[in-house]
Amino acid sequence: ARVGILISGRGSNMASLVEASHAPDSPYEVVLVVSNVPDAAGLAFAAANGIPTFAINHKGMTRVAFDTLVDGALRDASVEYVALAGYMRLLSPGFVAGWAGRMVNIHPSLLPLYKGLDTHQRALDAGDARHGCTVHLVTEALDDGPILAQAEVPILEGDDAEALATRVLIEEHKLYPAALAELIRR
Ligand code: GRF
Repeated sequence: ARVGILISGRGSNMASLVEASHAPDSPYEVVLVVSNVPDAAGLAFAAANGIPTFAINHKGMTRVAFDTLVDGALRDASVEYVALAGYMRLLSPGFVAGWAGRMVNIHPSLLPLYKGLDTHQRALDAGDARHGCTVHLVTEALDDGPILAQAEVPILEGDDAEALATRVLIEEHKLYPAALAELIRR
């Protein structure tokens, strides 16, 4: 299947999706990386891996106008599945509807806990013993939608948000390619 990935920054999850796609038994290939931040670090990785990129600053555009451009780029590349990977934009209802069942997101918490930002600090502040990450189908509500897969990590004595984020990110990089492959195969 042809996959398009939307990023806004570092792009480490995008890189893990690309790397997993190089396995001989991968059911998908990454054919486009889109960023709403023209200097997102992840774009360099994509370009270095020969993946076409589409970077366009959303500033000064309505959400619908911007999403229409992104949608057009995805359709032009014959993308079949969309993976959000650190894409820090809310999506318009029409865009979400157009990719229903074929757009996934990774979120750094054990959803339904801690939707939104600062998930690691919030898990620490709550005194949780466990934390983790979730891959889910994207619906209109933020960090909502049917859960496809989760991975857990322990919260350890002395953890700060950065240490915890690092532990979760290792799991994200394994979980996301596996969950996307499973969705595509089913
Ligand atoms: C990840 O923690 C992801 O779960 C969240 O934003 C972060 C993006 O990191 N949605 P990266 O850009 O994939 O490195």
